Amino acid sequence: MASPFCCTTLVLSYVSIALVVTIFPTLGTGSTRLATTSELEMEAKALLHLGWWSWHGNDTHNRCRWVGITCNDAGSITSIDCSWVAVSGSISPQIDALSSLEYLDLSHTGLTGELPQSLGKLTRLKELNLSRNFVEGSIPSGWGNLKNLKLLDLSDNRITGPIPSTLGNLTNLELLNLSENQIIGPIPSTLGKLTNLELLNLSENQIIGPIPSTLGNLTNLELLNLFENQIIGSIPSTLGNLTNLELLNLSENQIIGPIPFTLGNLTNLKQLDLSFNQITGAIPPTLGGLTNLEFLYFTSNQISSFIPSELGNMKSLVELDLRKNKLNEGPLPSQIGNCSVLEGLYLSNNHITGNIPFEVFTCPHHTLDLSHNFIEGEIPHNDLILYDLDLSHNNLTGMIPESSWFLGTLNLSYNSLEGPIPEYLINRFSSDSFWGNKNLCGNLPDFSPCPSKSSNKLKIVEIILPVLCFLAFLALGVLLFLRSRAEDNIPEPNVTKNGDLFSILNFDGRIAFEDIIEATNDFDIRYCIGTGGYGSVYRAQLPSGKIVALKKLHRREAEVLAFDKSFKNEAKILSEIRHKNIVKLHGFCLHNRCMFLIYEYMARGSLFCVLAYDNEAMELDWIKRVKIIKDTACALSYLHHDCHPPIVHRDISSNNILLTSNLEACVSDFGTARLIDPDSSNQTMLVGTYGYIAPGQVSKL
Ligand SMILES: *[C@@H]1O[C@H](CO)[C@@H](O)[C@H](O)[C@H]1NC(C)=O
Ligand SMILES: *[C@@H]1O[C@H](CO)[C@@H](O)[C@H](O)[C@H]1NC(C)=O
Repeated sequence: MASPFCCTTLVLSYVSIALVVTIFPTLGTGSTRLATTSELEMEAKALLHLGWWSWHGNDTHNRCRWVGITCNDAGSITSIDCSWVAVSGSISPQIDALSSLEYLDLSHTGLTGELPQSLGKLTRLKELNLSRNFVEGSIPSGWGNLKNLKLLDLSDNRITGPIPSTLGNLTNLELLNLSENQIIGPIPSTLGKLTNLELLNLSENQIIGPIPSTLGNLTNLELLNLFENQIIGSIPSTLGNLTNLELLNLSENQIIGPIPFTLGNLTNLKQLDLSFNQITGAIPPTLGGLTNLEFLYFTSNQISSFIPSELGNMKSLVELDLRKNKLNEGPLPSQIGNCSVLEGLYLSNNHITGNIPFEVFTCPHHTLDLSHNFIEGEIPHNDLILYDLDLSHNNLTGMIPESSWFLGTLNLSYNSLEGPIPEYLINRFSSDSFWGNKNLCGNLPDFSPCPSKSSNKLKIVEIILPVLCFLAFLALGVLLFLRSRAEDNIPEPNVTKNGDLFSILNFDGRIAFEDIIEATNDFDIRYCIGTGGYGSVYRAQLPSGKIVALKKLHRREAEVLAFDKSFKNEAKILSEIRHKNIVKLHGFCLHNRCMFLIYEYMARGSLFCVLAYDNEAMELDWIKRVKIIKDTACALSYLHHDCHPPIVHRDISSNNILLTSNLEACVSDFGTARLIDPDSSNQTMLVGTYGYIAPGQVSKL
């Protein structure tokens, strides 16, 4: 609300102040300037004219204690802060009597009337905030005298007329906010003199004419917002000098010409919005240098040529929106997949050709919109989590992959896809998602059922089966040979790429990433129930009430490149294992910011812990212990004899045997066993090598 009441501090001797002021009249900021009695009387009168404290009547004696007013020691008013207090009415021209005023904040007070010319006489003003009112009239050119002004906020009013060029004299200005008014006319080139300016917001007005190139002198600028005006001409290349800029918004204007390559110098930029203009030419590859950029919006322009692969260098990019342009040459660069935190990729309504790079499907996008292009080839086969996937109106061919897609919305309509619509998609999406693909089949309205495969079955039995048997024997022979040769010589996995993968397997419908973050308050320590060599274990209660255990990998582990593929394989294998004595893996997330596995929650924790506490260990009598050994043996037998290919755990210990509330034992932790750094002493079991690790290593229990 309002600022502190004045004169509640030390009451100093008037004489001593007068003395100081007389001897050093220009001392300090001048706020203790001695006001004459008549000046003070005029101030008191001005307050009555302003009329914002009418409940005090005509008695201005205690004016320094009125709400929102602060005086200096001489009794002269230095500050009026009535923001969010309903003062209403207009600003009386007599306000110029408040000659000591440095601070005037009347924002959101219901103020009406015109901007008074006389305010320009208050040359001590440092802050003038009249924002969010109903003030009319134009900005008086006399305000150019307010040389001490640091903040001028007139935003969200009904101000008309042009920006006076005299505002260029306010060289101490740090914030100039004129947004949300009806200001017309050009941006005066004199604004280029405001070299202390940090925030310049002229958005939502009717400003016409070009962006003066002098704005390139405002090298302290952090925010430049010219959104929604009628600015014409091209973007001056001098804007590339504004290297402190964090937000540049020129959207919804009539800007023409190319994007200057100098914008690539704005390395502090977080948001660049040029959307809804008539910008032409190509995207300069220099923009790849904007490594702090989080939001790039070029929607609805006439940008042509191709998407430069350099955009893959924008490591902080969260949203890339190039919709409704004329991007036409060549396919999507696979480097877009390097944008590891990218959540939204919007490229619809362009003329993009070529295939969808596999890499694009490895980002944990929330939204991927490639619709209305000329994209061809097959949909990459990859597990991914997306909320919205729109590939409609392209030339995609081939089958819809049987991946573990986790989707909110799906649109594959109007392509040339063929074959069966996968069952897991049929259950969740309607015909609309697949419409316009002549050769798709499936159990959905408007689609013909898929032809039965019985005619093929004979072939499988007669030809493929013997071949498979032969191959299986061959493989077995090779495996036995290798096993005899190199028990410890485990080959490196052939992993070259560090993709980002996020997949949460279908479990009780769905577990959303958000649910997990919410359930653990973004992996807050309060939910941590244990820590190990690879990471920490958290307990998370999902919105459905179900409790799961999350094993989150330490960041260091998560940064090792080769883990992507091996982890993915591991997670897949584990998700296929179903045994009552093996802990169930419900899902996983692999992304360089966040890697975790989602397990069934085991109420009693590890056998090691139970044995470590005397009273719990006592409860575990011999009959129960034998049962735990039996359970463990069952799990191992299943892994070794019932899984194809067999799986060897390699790290059975009391730490890795977890107990349910009924003291049933479950073997855990083989997912992460492989995630140990291959270079470290903890050697790992790698893709394709399970089955020939020495059985001797199996039971350490
Ligand atoms: C305040 O002053 C005005 C004119 O100056 C006068 O008409 C009015 O009666 C005064 N009110 C009080 C309460 O003294
Ligand atoms: C400027 O004014 C608008 C409207 O009142 C407000 O939303 C914005 O936060 C203000 N400040 C800046 C720096 O733009």
